[in-house]
Amino acid sequence: MNLFVFCVFCPFLRVSCSNPLSHWTLLPNVLVLEVDGTWGDHQLSCLAEDSLHRDNQTRDIVWRKNGEEEAHGNSYQVRLVESLGGGNYTCHSKDWSVLNHTEVLIMQHQTNRRRILEKPEQEDYLKCSAQNYSGEFHCSWTWHTSRVGKVAFIKARHVSDDNSTLCSVDASTQQWMCSSAHGNFTCSVDKSGNSISCQDKQHCPFAEESQQIHVTVYVKTSQFLLESYSKLFFLSEIVKPDKVRIWKVNTTVVEWSYPSSWNTPYSYFPLTFQTFQLTLCKTFHMITSALSLLCKFCCWFIFIKPAEF
Ligand SMILES: *[C@@H]1O[C@H](CO)[C@@H](O)[C@H](O)[C@H]1NC(C)=O
Ligand SMILES: *[C@@H]1O[C@H](CO)[C@@H](O)[C@H](O)[C@H]1NC(C)=O
Ligand SMILES: *[C@@H]1O[C@H](CO)[C@@H](O)[C@H](O)[C@H]1NC(C)=O
Ligand SMILES: *[C@@H]1O[C@H](CO)[C@@H](O)[C@H](O)[C@H]1NC(C)=O
Ligand SMILES: *[C@@H]1O[C@H](CO)[C@@H](O)[C@H](O)[C@H]1NC(C)=O
Ligand SMILES: *[C@@H]1O[C@H](CO)[C@@H](O)[C@H](O)[C@H]1NC(C)=O
Ligand SMILES: *[C@@H]1O[C@H](CO)[C@@H](O)[C@H](O)[C@H]1NC(C)=O
Repeated sequence: MNLFVFCVFCPFLRVSCSNPLSHWTLLPNVLVLEVDGTWGDHQLSCLAEDSLHRDNQTRDIVWRKNGEEEAHGNSYQVRLVESLGGGNYTCHSKDWSVLNHTEVLIMQHQTNRRRILEKPEQEDYLKCSAQNYSGEFHCSWTWHTSRVGKVAFIKARHVSDDNSTLCSVDASTQQWMCSSAHGNFTCSVDKSGNSISCQDKQHCPFAEESQQIHVTVYVKTSQFLLESYSKLFFLSEIVKPDKVRIWKVNTTVVEWSYPSSWNTPYSYFPLTFQTFQLTLCKTFHMITSALSLLCKFCCWFIFIKPAEF
């Protein structure tokens, strides 16, 4: 009835009646409602029609939202306004046992205002890097200071497979897997909770990279808001060699070798190195005896980058 009255007035209020604009299942029992901030409703069902006829327990079903008793009956109208309406909706039988549950996550439609992650200046929300060409990479981010977030879903695929990739999570290992005809990625959330590590299983370090990688991280808050953040890149664009291994250093000589995480053979994956030594120490040496100590910390700088092919 409420919905009816509301919709009758819609043309006059000039607001959309179709809130939520869309809904989709992120994971089993996790429903995403894409909202535009106006008033709206979405109906949840506790038990599917076929299981209802078997049991006839409709009238005894009790709905709870985040544990608080809300309504009776098999269906429940989630009320939406602004970004409210998300929650863990559980339905219970007479004896309080859980019959089913639906976690409703709210996603704001086409909003420029991002609320869950913070964007460092001059950078993207997601910062991705790889230490070599093996197909493994990491993406990290910064949570908004006033929000506690969690990863809700991870998608990693090649751009050409955007519409044909299936992603799922292995609940026991917390490994996210995305597979398509051409690729196979696995990702996991790092212990810190603010980064993921992914591996492109089909990646061949010796071949020319023809397809960009497309990573999307869905994050949710404890208030059941959902946002997605994406990044597109070639591995070669994000490769950043790790630190060199230094074997010997004195004031005139420094000896090092390739980072242990760099690809072999080095002849095929060459790095270029640039060094310079800070020579201030000598000057200091002559000034005071106290400062001559600094001489022991003579600085060598080694710049390292993949050689241009
Ligand atoms: C439980 O709810 C989900 C939606 O979250 C629905 O797909 C599923 O069919 C329901 N389970 C049963 C047994 O009705
Ligand atoms: C359940 O309800 C349907 C129609 O409301 C009825 O035909 C059926 O006999 C009922 N089943 C049980 C087990 O009570
Ligand atoms: C929602 O409630 C169900 C049933 O109590 C529980 O299994 C599930 O973990 C809850 N989900 C969240 C996100 O709290
Ligand atoms: C994927 O589908 C969307 C719309 O469904 C379309 O706009 C887009 O071009 C497709 N992308 C690819 C790579 O086919
Ligand atoms: C992707 O990897 C999984 C597990 O390693 C494997 O079972 C599957 O066949 C692979 N798919 C493709 C397209 O290579
Ligand atoms: C630094 O090491 C090199 C090579 O071992 C040696 O020839 C040189 O004399 C050393 N310089 C100093 C100042 O110790
Ligand atoms: C390649 O780099 C990744 C991190 O990007 C690292 O975890 C992995 O161990 C490296 N591979 C080798 C062979 O060292």
